Amino acid sequence: MTIDSYLERLYVEGRQNDSSTTTRSEMMLNITPSTGTFLDLLVSELKPKRILELGTSNGFSTIWLARAARRIHSQVDSVDISRDKIHLARKHLTECELQDNVALHVADCGEFLRDCNTETYEFVFLDSDRTAYSRWAADLVRTTRFGLIVVDNATTHPQELLDFRRFLSDELGLSISVLPIGNGQMIIQKVE
Ligand SMILES: C[S@@+](CC[C@H](N)C(=O)[O-])C[C@H]1O[C@@H](n2cnc3c(N)ncnc32)[C@H](O)[C@@H]1O
Repeated sequence: MTIDSYLERLYVEGRQNDSSTTTRSEMMLNITPSTGTFLDLLVSELKPKRILELGTSNGFSTIWLARAARRIHSQVDSVDISRDKIHLARKHLTECELQDNVALHVADCGEFLRDCNTETYEFVFLDSDRTAYSRWAADLVRTTRFGLIVVDNATTHPQELLDFRRFLSDELGLSISVLPIGNGQMIIQKVE
């Protein structure tokens, strides 16, 4: 099976799973395929040496990132608090033969970021607990070597991202734009 067909199957399974439960922690909450294509394009063009994903779930978005990373000889770190989801992600990445390009971490994203060295990642994809983004923001920016940070759900949940967005633009002077791709991609950049 090609990675494209694997992604198609995983996406359908994720949607079916999510509509069969009301328990949020059991949902996969995958990015859309158009967001995956966008992430692939960014990684392929920017060629970051190290990529960080915050919010692995079952590895759907990680597969998109890891495939692009393999093409440019880059590495992905991906973090999720759920041991079960990381276990699923490891299975899916292995079935796609992408395991060598990814290190999976069972951790709270805030703690992971706190322990990261300054300017470690050149590309970050944030798709985790939106209520915590403001608390993670300072470490997120410290950890990123600008670079680019992409945040999912910018058009589906703009209110939840408001304080985070204000902090980045008003306090840190970063440039923020939103693209109507999938659930809305917030693009955070340092503009000289
Ligand atoms: C929207 S889902 C990620 C979907 C994934 N990016 C994809 O498209 O396949 C959010 C994930 O964040 C994880 N999460 C929630 N709070 C977290 C935290 N404090 N630290 C780490 N992961 C967390 C959840 O377990 C969940 O798997």
